[in-house]
Amino acid sequence: MSEVKKRVEELHELLHRYSYEYYVKDDPSVPDSEYDKLLHELIGIEREHPELKTDDSPTVRVGAEVQSSFEKVQHETPMLSLGNAFNEADLRKFDQRIQEKVGDVNYMCELKIDGLAVSLKYENGKFVQGLTRGDGTTGEDITENLKTIHAIPLTLKKDISFEVRGEAFMPRKSFLKLNEEKEQNEEQPFANPRNAAAGSLRQLDPKLAAKRKLDVFLYSINDLTELDAETQEEALNELDALGFKTNQKRRSVNNIDEVIEYIDYWTDKREALSYDIDGIVIKVNQLDTQDELGFTAKSPRWAIAYKFPAEEVVTTLLDIELSIGRTGVVTPTAILEPVRVAGTTVSRASLHNEDLIHEKDIRISDSVVIKKAGDIIPEVVKRIKDRRKDDAKTYHMPTHCPSCDHELVRIEGEVALRCINPKCQAQLVEGLIHFVSRQAMNIDGLGEKIIQQLYEQGCIKDIADIYYLTEEDLLPLERMGQKKVTNLLKAIETSKSNSLEQLLFGLGIRHLGVKASRVLAERYDSIECLMEVSEVELLEIHDIGEKLAQSVVTYLENEDIKALIQKLKDKDVNMTFKGPKYNEVEGHEDFKDKTIVLTGKLHQMTRKEASEWLKLQGAKVTSSVTKKTDLVIAGEDAGSKLSKAEELEIEVWSEDEFVTKQNEIKE
Ligand code: IVH
Repeated sequence: MSEVKKRVEELHELLHRYSYEYYVKDDPSVPDSEYDKLLHELIGIEREHPELKTDDSPTVRVGAEVQSSFEKVQHETPMLSLGNAFNEADLRKFDQRIQEKVGDVNYMCELKIDGLAVSLKYENGKFVQGLTRGDGTTGEDITENLKTIHAIPLTLKKDISFEVRGEAFMPRKSFLKLNEEKEQNEEQPFANPRNAAAGSLRQLDPKLAAKRKLDVFLYSINDLTELDAETQEEALNELDALGFKTNQKRRSVNNIDEVIEYIDYWTDKREALSYDIDGIVIKVNQLDTQDELGFTAKSPRWAIAYKFPAEEVVTTLLDIELSIGRTGVVTPTAILEPVRVAGTTVSRASLHNEDLIHEKDIRISDSVVIKKAGDIIPEVVKRIKDRRKDDAKTYHMPTHCPSCDHELVRIEGEVALRCINPKCQAQLVEGLIHFVSRQAMNIDGLGEKIIQQLYEQGCIKDIADIYYLTEEDLLPLERMGQKKVTNLLKAIETSKSNSLEQLLFGLGIRHLGVKASRVLAERYDSIECLMEVSEVELLEIHDIGEKLAQSVVTYLENEDIKALIQKLKDKDVNMTFKGPKYNEVEGHEDFKDKTIVLTGKLHQMTRKEASEWLKLQGAKVTSSVTKKTDLVIAGEDAGSKLSKAEELEIEVWSEDEFVTKQNEIKE
């Protein structure tokens, strides 16, 4: 064997070992600099001798080349999910059912890691393929991204072939760092570590994924024939022995009382962990008893996930600020003493409207309880009664717009207060933010702070001015280097060729959402044709109602708007429909061609918005649950439709699960 080849093998051995010590065992024997030095030596050798680079070389951790898409791959056995328990009674019921079937059992309690399920396939001890859960039957091949996670062994300590499953996640520290960077770059931060992990694993550029510092815990072996474990505990120990990272906080217990003790313990201590958990998974420990209990259509009968209640914390309401939306709606926002809730620091929460503030009798300086709805959106739950200060004053919404001082009005039938001044600065800025947003003109790099500055300096007064921006306008802005300016001007230029529906939606015509914009663009092909259309004609279109028809026609007839459109045309902004036709929309595999029912009250969007979004993903949204229904999305107080879905064993998602999926897709 040549000297070089020998050195390569030596380096593989050392680097794998150091990586294992550092990332799996959390017990490094050499400083980081030693690892880096050896890695660079290996990178150098591989550059000169590409034939010596193997698939399991430690250098793959830095990330392979950019991919164009992720291949869809069917799981060898479906990746199921778990039934949920929300309280002690649910747990006791679960235990009782098991006892009735198989008698007394021991349980394995594990932390329920709040990340993303992944399936890892090994052949003869080598990591060959890693998949997402996808719809449980088919996942996406994210092997290259998974290889960048150091805790995933590329080579096992035994030459075995099997599939292991676990949870990939982003530790809190990496998450905070990533969001800090995002904020500095004026990018939208991730709402929580789970979304950040999902987004990172869906990066087409593995080198970017490598930078995201993800981690993993494995918790199950798909095919146990290779090993001789008799319990879940032994199976996890075998995984440890093979070089995998498993969660060491697990505990095997003798009965359901001890399960509850374990849950109580972690309910208290979860904040001290360096990663997020959203519950505890309880599994029958004995593997042959698991087999005996078997599965329902959706989940194993031998396991259940206890979900923590949404975390509530107390903080102080420092102030109430008003924000003015694009349509002039004035929303009160609670400014809070910053606190950590469900994994992030919260300093603002929507108070929705004045009525709600009075209903909850919330005053500035009150101690308030806050939580995150669906673990995502912060909200004020209530005030703490006996902590009121004597001078706490009742809050009243102002009578005039805090931005332009125009009188605010309450439109009949609406709770919201509105500023109806069409020249209100705050609204115009919001309108600009909307115009560049992803579903509208999708201009990357034109964040809120930049728009605000450009507006204040008089560089942009309306949306068309965006296309008249020059380097001289942009370079003097805060935190704007030459590179950012060049990229931004490129993004603006690219947006000129967007299809008509993006422009229509971006204009911010009242009542005109993403879907209706598309319907109009598809039907009329160009803005000129749309400008000729009458209200009556618009009303003939299935998806267009009276309010919208009127709003579109009034908008396009307005002389100022006509001038604005001309100003955009002068800069060659495209005003024609470029397809593809609505029915050919690619859509997301989880929704495309699926029959979906929405039921119950949603908090983070209206049912209509949810339905529009689903249809854009190629789903058919229907109103009654039948055998043909593929999925039910159930909000609060979902009644008979939910029971029907359960009876027919149709998959049911909570709003939270739906929003998480949306975020994954949008990412
Ligand atoms: S066992 C048949 N154990 O929670 C499914 N799941 O629905 C067996 N999860 O998406 C899953 N930590 O990704 C199991 N220690 C753990 C877990 C865990 C997190 C996730 C899993 C799944 C969801 C349960």
